[in-house]
Amino acid sequence: MKEFDPVAYKQMVKKFQENDNPTGWFDSIYIDAQGDYKSVFWADLQPSPYLVKWLKENPASSKQKKAIVVGCGVGDDAQALSEYGYEVIGFDISKEAIKLCKSRYPNSKVTYLVADLFDYDKQWLENFDVVYECNTIQVLPGKYRIQARKAISNLVKKQGYALVSCRSRKKGEQENDIPLPLDYDEINKFVRDDNLEEINFLAYDDTQIPSVPHFFAIYKRNEE
Ligand SMILES: C[S@@+](CC[C@H](N)C(=O)[O-])C[C@H]1O[C@@H](n2cnc3c(N)ncnc32)[C@H](O)[C@@H]1O
Repeated sequence: MKEFDPVAYKQMVKKFQENDNPTGWFDSIYIDAQGDYKSVFWADLQPSPYLVKWLKENPASSKQKKAIVVGCGVGDDAQALSEYGYEVIGFDISKEAIKLCKSRYPNSKVTYLVADLFDYDKQWLENFDVVYECNTIQVLPGKYRIQARKAISNLVKKQGYALVSCRSRKKGEQENDIPLPLDYDEINKFVRDDNLEEINFLAYDDTQIPSVPHFFAIYKRNEE
């Protein structure tokens, strides 16, 4: 396993972003893990407790319900959705991430596949009861964040939910950070620009030392 160097990491990401290749580096993070999903530095290795809380209250009914996990990483959140009865697609732009998911969960009911949020199958449009996004927007720069948010919203079917988890910041702060956390104005564009309804919104500090502020938002597509 390659030792994680946060300074070199930020420099590498910045370089890709400056060359307008914002997704060109993700695979290298998973390749550096050399087949060991535990050494992917951003992986929590457990599903989000806020996702699990929501799933306890909203398991899939007997009717077939579809969920999709954007930038699924090493698969914990996709597996949780599957355990609560959803028919799940977990996709990631990184081939190596999907390879890790498949070897980690050889008997999974989740369909793990390589796909690009910016160029996914048109059949996915408004096709999912639950869309789960955790920390993808924040690792993208500028216009790609807007494109990513819209692409996430477009996956949600009528009466379906988008669950969005991310780091947060106050407006005007940390402007050059990598990852760049979302401020309230940015995350609220799921409502203002994409026409989803805010069902629940949580701002909380996580358990790291020092703690990191986060948002966990639940949105719904209400229109007929
Ligand atoms: C910070 S990681 C978070 C991974 C996972 N969601 C988690 O919470 O551990 C962001 C993930 O998004 C994926 N990603 C970035 N851009 C993407 C795109 N355009 N389409 C699909 N996946 C993408 C990356 O490969 C990476 O796995």
